[in-house]
Order: sequence, then structure tokens, then C-alpha cells
Amino acid sequence: MSEPSQFQAPVGTHDVLAPDSARWEGLLATFADWAHRYGFSLVITPVFEDVGVFNRGIGEASDVARKEMYVFTDRGERTYALRPEGTAPVVRAFIQHQPTTPFKAWYFTPAFRYERPQAGRYRQHHQVGVEVLGTDDPAIDVEVIALAQRFFEAIGLTRFRLLINSMGHAQCRGAYVTLLRAHLEAHADELCDEHQTSWRENPLRVLDCKDPACVAVTSRGPMLIDHLCADCRAHFDAVLEGLGRLGVASELSPRLVRGFDYYTRTTFEFVADALDGAQNAIGGGGRYDGLVEQLGGKPTSGIGFGSGVERLLLTLAAEGVPATFSRALEVFVVDTTGEDAAGLLLDRLRSAGIASDRAYDQRSMKAQMKVADRSGARLALLIGPQELAAREVTIRDLRSADHEQDQRRVPDQDVVSTILQLRQAK
Ligand code: HAM
Repeated sequence: MSEPSQFQAPVGTHDVLAPDSARWEGLLATFADWAHRYGFSLVITPVFEDVGVFNRGIGEASDVARKEMYVFTDRGERTYALRPEGTAPVVRAFIQHQPTTPFKAWYFTPAFRYERPQAGRYRQHHQVGVEVLGTDDPAIDVEVIALAQRFFEAIGLTRFRLLINSMGHAQCRGAYVTLLRAHLEAHADELCDEHQTSWRENPLRVLDCKDPACVAVTSRGPMLIDHLCADCRAHFDAVLEGLGRLGVASELSPRLVRGFDYYTRTTFEFVADALDGAQNAIGGGGRYDGLVEQLGGKPTSGIGFGSGVERLLLTLAAEGVPATFSRALEVFVVDTTGEDAAGLLLDRLRSAGIASDRAYDQRSMKAQMKVADRSGARLALLIGPQELAAREVTIRDLRSADHEQDQRRVPDQDVVSTILQLRQAK
């Protein structure tokens, strides 16, 4: 590749600058708040892991492990992968540190998948999510799903649906896969091009295929939900009842199998009606009762979900939800004296919790006022030679049509309290 004259963010990745970054901050703060309300604590794990964590965790045969992982060898000849998802690393950390159970963790993480970039599908995306390890009580399935639902409601989404299914556990799924194989074998020549050859490797993937040919074949075939063992059926019924009691509506979706091999029992996806069908999942998750063992730990149940931040923001925009979280400046200090008044005043303003900024490089009054206007601040604090001599500051309302009218001088020592009063009166 020739050296570009100007570097760009890599294909399929995005820079997030203000004012868009304020939406990210708002969304993260809301998620952190809701996760805290449900008893989750923040967990941070490395962005890269031994490649085995993912090969064993999400399954070597999964599309993500086979085709989409960013795998590299470091200078010490170790093979790592950038995390394509957030669950396997949390499980690896759980096994390593053996915290008390139930272990309830939330996270915000970038995730890396070498996919074909398009709207809502990126090579680096970001997820907020939770994982619970150490209980298979259906009450926790209900809580995890309710947390996702309440979070989506809290950020202002209204047009989304919860699709739910049960994948059973290893035994009842094994028996079902035998039935599904027989059905697919009988209709193999009717499947889409890809699955005509690949259905044998992972027949469950065919259920996930959106091609009308595969949909036609599988919808006439056996469904896992009709072949659950008594325990898995009772567990699933308890989850559905629990959701019903909380008023969380769900749609049974027997074809929902999701993309990773670790899922067992409850699996779910939230889809946004305002987004294009192919990329309309705003969150997904489920149980993974065998994953801890698979990664070398003692048998431990687990459940969680992850939700794509970029997709949530696209959905908010598509639904026309106005941004409520603002990172606008409150005050801009214009100091033409060239002394240290601005620095001293800003220190007091900021200590009092007032977001404030200034111009630099000894610019003229006119130039500084231009920056103040552009800054988005509501108020300008003017310090000229007169103010300095009188130990006063002029407070000017930048949103008012008549700036000169809407300004007043206050003693320097009263500036902070006056601004706090004006904030209340707003
Ligand atoms: P996932 O369904 O692969 O599950 O991803 C979770 C969410 O991340 C998706 O619903 C979607 O909103 C977003 N997402 C996924 N891939 C992309 C992409 N290429 N570009 C933009 N957004 C994307 C997981 O990752 C599981 N770890 C979830 C989980 C947690 N299961 C149990 N615990």
C-alpha cells in the first residue's frame, strides 16, 4: 500500500467528536446508572486476550471466530485476538479471580469484527452489557432482560421488540439437532447456496439464515422449542411468566439461535422497528451455562446481554428522540486585561461545578467574543481594565437579542453565587 498523504480512521471505524460525543456520554451514564440500580459492578478486562478464550468460548466454527476475528502474534510470539465480544473475557476473568457468586458485572467495551462495513455494522463497534455468573434461577433471566428493556426505555426508545427463545441445554439440544439434520438432509437441495454445502457443520445456523429458501425449508421442519426437556421447558415458562408479571412484552421466536456456540436455554434479541431489517438488533444475549467449564472453570451458570451503542444512537436518531444530555459550556470568560484574572476566576467557577472556558493568546475583545459566541456558553464574563480596577465582572447573557441591555456588573466575590442563582432561575 502506498503511503497516504493524509491518514484516515481505518475502514469500518469511526471517530466520535463533540457534539455527538455528548450523546455517548449520556447513554453511558444512563447505562451505568441502571446497571447500578440492578446491583451490577463495573468490570474492565484487557481489549486483547489469548485467542483460545474466543476460539473455545464463542466456538471455532462460529462465523465470528472463523472469518471475523482480528488475530495477531506479538513480539513474544503469543497469539492474541482483539475481543470480538464481551462475554468470553468476563468469564475468563471470573475463572481467574474466583469472586463470590452471584457475580454481577457490567461493561462498556469496543468490539472488533472484520465484517463488511455498512450502516449499523462496523469493524470496531461498542457495546454496553452485563453478565451474571453463578445462578440459573429464572428470576435472574427476568432481571437481565428487564434491565435491557428499562435501559432502552430510559434513553427514550419506544419502537422496539423483544424476541425470545430457548436453546435448551446440551442434552435436549443434541436430540433436537438429530431431528433437524434429518429434515435438512431430506431438503438439502432446496437450501440457499451457502447452506447446501455447509448445513452439516452447524445445522442450527440454517435456522438463522434470512434467505427465503432456507426460511421455507426450516419453517416446515422441527423447532427446538417443541423438543425441550421438562426442566428446560419449566425454566423457560418461569422466565416468560416473570417477564409477564413485570409487564415486559416478548414475542416467541422459535428460529432465534444467535451467532455464538455458547448459548443454552434462554436466548433473546431486541430489535428496533426504526432500523433496516438486516441490522436491526439493538441488543442480544442469553444463558451460557456451559461456558465457564469450557474455558477451564468449575461448572457455573451464566447469563448476560450486550447492546450496540452505535445502533442505539442510530435508532434514537431514526425515532427522532431529542438529545437531553448536554455538555454545553455554561460560562465563557473574556479577559482583555492580559493579567491573571481569567485564570483565577475560572479556578473558582470550575471548583463550584460551573463548566467554563476562555480564549487564549491575548486576543482582542472582538475576537474573544466571537469565540465566546461559538462556544455555546450561555453567559460571558467580561473583565476589562475598568472591571479589574473596580474588582468587578460584567455578566452578559449571550442568548439575549440585546447583549448590551442584558448585562450587569457584579462584585468579583459574588460572581460564582450570582451564576448559581441564574442557573436556578433559568
Ligand atoms: P451480539 O449479538 O453479537 O452478542 O452483539 C450484541 C450487540 O452488539 C448486537 O445486538 C448489536 O447491537 C451490536 N453489534 C454486533 N455486531 C456489530 C457490528 N459489527 N457493528 C455494530 N454493532 C454491532 C454478543 O456480542 C454477546 N456477547 C452478547 C451477550 C452477552 N450474550 C450473553 N452475554
